[in-house]
Amino acid sequence: MGSCPDKAGFNTLRQNRYIAMSVQMRLGRIVNSFLTRFGYKLVLYNGTSGQTFTEGQLLKALTELRAVYHEYVFKKELTTDEESLRLLSNSMYTGFGTGLYLVAYLHQSLTLEGDICEFGVAQGVISALLAHEIKNTRKNIWLFDSFEGLPEPSAKDILLDDFGNFGSIKAYKGSLSFPEDMVRTRLSHLQFPPDRIRIVPGFIEKTMNTQDLPKTVCFAFVDMNFYEPTILALNYLDTVLSPGGFIIIDDYDFFSQGAKCAVDEFFDSRKERYSRKFPLNSSGNFCILCRLS
Ligand SMILES: C[S@@+](CC[C@H](N)C(=O)[O-])C[C@H]1O[C@@H](n2cnc3c(N)ncnc32)[C@H](O)[C@@H]1O
Repeated sequence: MGSCPDKAGFNTLRQNRYIAMSVQMRLGRIVNSFLTRFGYKLVLYNGTSGQTFTEGQLLKALTELRAVYHEYVFKKELTTDEESLRLLSNSMYTGFGTGLYLVAYLHQSLTLEGDICEFGVAQGVISALLAHEIKNTRKNIWLFDSFEGLPEPSAKDILLDDFGNFGSIKAYKGSLSFPEDMVRTRLSHLQFPPDRIRIVPGFIEKTMNTQDLPKTVCFAFVDMNFYEPTILALNYLDTVLSPGGFIIIDDYDFFSQGAKCAVDEFFDSRKERYSRKFPLNSSGNFCILCRLS
């Protein structure tokens, strides 16, 4: 027959469990730093409830965080449902705060004419979120990616944050590469009408000249890290963005100096046509451009 531990015994038990958990989590992080390169990750499994940490506790925490954003950041209720949170919880490259801003500005643009675009889709996690948010509209989603990862950096791409520990900006060439099929499969799970999904595979330096492109856009997420593709996407969007529409550019002043350099150059020469906003410091490194006229 087992005996109940006394207070000291209980504390030791708790301490041991804590040590075991932190070793487990540290081990998990090491394994995940390897697995995530291939699009997989380990999650904590709770044997009693049968739930993973991500599905249960994470969703609850995200629901609370969303309420804080509603009340203090956007000062209004966002029309995100539980599926939006679930999709956001899968995101590897775009943080939760950034995701909520994306959804908030996307919804503000939905009454405008035009489709929505994502430039730089990687595994398509944010593509799935954006598609989910426009499912009940008639808008198309346009997804641009090389599916071969990052191109050669330009002289304006100076390394700011070596998040992958690659040692140099040049070493990032070819990283963040995921197969197009992974994006298609992810979108197929949403039951989004396939004829409203336009995937444009290839480096945009080439595809922007050769492919069919949207004639009008109301919202775009530009997330390609480097200077050349970012400035190219911005110059194109300038020709098709509806007045009142938004462009959100990720990695402003983060990772490579290129994205900031492209945004500053673009904005400085069009100040009469765009307003520029930045998020809360803790919400991510991005910039929001709104087309005024
Ligand atoms: C940071 S990831 C995008 C992450 C994604 N938006 C998300 O939040 O999950 C950057 C992506 O941009 C793509 N990319 C970078 N430069 C490109 C270019 N010149 N043409 C096409 N795709 C490019 C890369 O292949 C990579 O998948």
